[in-house]
Amino acid sequence: MAISLTTALTVLAVIAHPDDELMYSGLIHTLTHQLGATVDLVCVTNGEGGFTYSGLSESLYGNLQLSNETIGRKHLPRIRQQELFASGRILGIRKFFFYDQVDLKYDRDVSTVFATQWDKEWVIEQFQRTIKTGNGADGYDLMLIVLPSVDSHGHHSASALLALEAINRLQRTSASHMSLPTVLGSAEFIVTEPSTYPGYPIAEILENATKSEFRFNLKWKINKSPVIDYKTIRFWIAGEHKSQGSLINDFLTHYERDEEQYFYFAINERYDDLERLSMIENLFDHIAAIHETDASNTVR
Ligand SMILES: *[C@@H]1O[C@H](CO)[C@@H](O)[C@H](O)[C@H]1NC(C)=O
Repeated sequence: MAISLTTALTVLAVIAHPDDELMYSGLIHTLTHQLGATVDLVCVTNGEGGFTYSGLSESLYGNLQLSNETIGRKHLPRIRQQELFASGRILGIRKFFFYDQVDLKYDRDVSTVFATQWDKEWVIEQFQRTIKTGNGADGYDLMLIVLPSVDSHGHHSASALLALEAINRLQRTSASHMSLPTVLGSAEFIVTEPSTYPGYPIAEILENATKSEFRFNLKWKINKSPVIDYKTIRFWIAGEHKSQGSLINDFLTHYERDEEQYFYFAINERYDDLERLSMIENLFDHIAAIHETDASNTVR
């Protein structure tokens, strides 16, 4: 669907585990709070594997011994859903879709994830269903996924690759491919050059375009505040995931960054003209304009 800034956008964000929404938190907050967008969220796993750093939160959750793997796996799916709802309240998420795939263990290799952890075909079908019907007959304008990377948690890349595969199949079967969302990949690590994901041409970034990377500045101030910026939102959200005790430390150290980076997939252009790309450019230009005309952002 063509993204027009005169009508409110509808957006589907895809994450593997509750707390991965942190990757898009600046952009989503702006979409819902400044642009009147509707944002829904798919969470692919049940998050049960996140017991390692749950110890500190045990007193908040009925003194369940969450850091014990057996107990953690049993209770964390419910607890982490609640934490995601709390985070979603900050971000203004409308609807949540849980695909309940098992969060068995960390493995960078997506083929292992598909072979031993998830029901791959079922997840692709669910993505097709959510993309087609999650926002009624209108569909979504935009879909946010994690940029697949061989350095990422395999669940992150796997979620993204299955979402892209759903788009791939819908493009081939839909009466109108124009009703499908434009897909952007958010970089989990600071990326200087987007790499391809081996074996998955559907994850290629558009080449030879005027622009295929878009940035959201997390140091932009919000609501004319001289001090509060989008990093504040990241910490609010990290703070909602109390069962994930290492999260705030992670965001102060190796995930610390000043910008969110979004990449435009080549699959968006398979049947279209360049309209989708220019709409994304307009969107990010518009977001920059909103923030940079705010005096608190011009005085640095
Ligand atoms: C973890 O909890 C299970 C179930 O209550 C128990 O059988 C097991 O001994 C516990 N493991 C440890 C290391 O405490």
